[in-house]
Amino acid sequence: MKTTLSCIKADVGSIGGHIQPSRLLVEAVRSKIAEQAKELKLDYAISHTGDDVAILMAHPHGVSYAPIHELAFRAFQAGTEVARQQGLYGAGQDLLKDAFSGNVRGMGPEVAEMEFEERPNEPFLLFAADKTSPGAFNLPLYLSFADPMFCSGLLLGPKLMKGFRFVIMDVDCTEGDRVIDLNAPEDLYQIAALLRDTERFVVEAIYNRTTGEQAAVVSTSRLRNIAGKYVGKDDPVCLVRVQSDFPATGEVLAPYALTHYVAGFMRGSHNGPLMPVSQGTGVSYFDGPPVVSCHAMCVHQGRFTEAADPFSHPFWRSIQDHAAAKAVEMRRQGFFGPAMLPYSDLEYGGIVQMLDELEPRFKMRPAEKAVPV
Ligand code: F6R
Ligand code: MG
Ligand code: MG
Repeated sequence: MKTTLSCIKADVGSIGGHIQPSRLLVEAVRSKIAEQAKELKLDYAISHTGDDVAILMAHPHGVSYAPIHELAFRAFQAGTEVARQQGLYGAGQDLLKDAFSGNVRGMGPEVAEMEFEERPNEPFLLFAADKTSPGAFNLPLYLSFADPMFCSGLLLGPKLMKGFRFVIMDVDCTEGDRVIDLNAPEDLYQIAALLRDTERFVVEAIYNRTTGEQAAVVSTSRLRNIAGKYVGKDDPVCLVRVQSDFPATGEVLAPYALTHYVAGFMRGSHNGPLMPVSQGTGVSYFDGPPVVSCHAMCVHQGRFTEAADPFSHPFWRSIQDHAAAKAVEMRRQGFFGPAMLPYSDLEYGGIVQMLDELEPRFKMRPAEKAVPV
C-alpha cells in the first residue's frame, strides 16, 4: 500500500524565552490532530525539540493534501491559542498568515513529506532540528548517501552500490523552486561544491538509483524569503527511510557524531555545533546550541510503531560533551569572524541598520598615483 509521511513543524510559543513549548501547548496540538485522525485515516506522533512542535503523520492521501495541511495549521492555531492564554513567549511566531489557503508550505511551518509503496517492514528516521536552517542536513546526508567512509553500504550493499540521486534546491531563489538533479558518485564534486554553501543550496530529496525509491526529504522553506524579513531561523525537519536498499540506521546516524558547525545559534545569527539530543530536549546555552533529535520508527499499513530514541543512547554522551566544548570555544570569540554569520545572512535588526546608517559616511579616497621611477 502507498503511505505518505508528512512532518509539519512550527514554533508557536515557548516557556521561559525561545527554549521549549509548554506541556499544555503540546497537548492542544495533539488533541486537535486527534479530533480528525479517524476521518482523515491518519496516525500521528507529536514531539518537541527546542522550542518547536513537530506533527508527524502517516496517511494514504499523498503529499500536499490540503485537508492534512489544514489540520496541521489548525493544530498550530490551537497551540497558539493556548500560548496566548498562558502568556507564552513568541505565541504564534511561525504562523505568518492567519487564513489557510490550501497548503501550509509558505505559511511559516516547516514541511517534509514523501509518499512511497510501503515495504513489508518500513523503518525510517525523523530528524527535527532547532536553532538552525535546512542546510544543517547537507553534510550528514552527503556523508550517509555518498561517502563510503560513513556509509559502508555503498561498498557492501548490492542495492546501494549504484549510488543515490540528490535533488538540490537553490533556496535563495524566490521566483519558484530552482532545483538540480545530481548523481552520486559521478557528480560527487558538483554535489559537494553546492552543498558546502549551506545557506543557499539545500538537499531537498534523495533517491536510490537502483530502485528509483525515495530515501529522504528535507524541509526547504526559508522564513525570511516568505516574510520578506528575518522572523526566526527555519528549524528544519528531515525524514530518512533506512535499511536494506537504503543506508542502515547507524550509517545515517554516524555523521551526527561530527557535531558540525551550523548557522542559527542565538538570534539566528551565529554559528554553533549541532548537538544530537534526546527527544523533547529544550535549548539553553546562548539559546542553543543548535540541536537535533531523532525518532526511529516503523510505519506499517499506515500505523506507527512506538519511537526509539537513538540519541539518548549512552554513546552520544561524550559526543554531547564534545559539542558543548565546541560551542564554548566558538563563543570565546563573540561576534568576530566565523562566530557570527556574515552580513548577508544576519537580517536581525541592529547591525544591518547600523551598517546602512554608516553607508553615507564612507568617502571615496582617490587612489594614490604611482611615483614615476
Ligand atoms: C533563535 C531564537 C532566539 C532569539 C533570541 C532573541 O531562533 O529564537 O535566539 O532570536 O532569544 O529573541 P527576541 O528578539 O524575541 O527577544
Ligand atoms: Mg523560536
Ligand atoms: Mg525553533
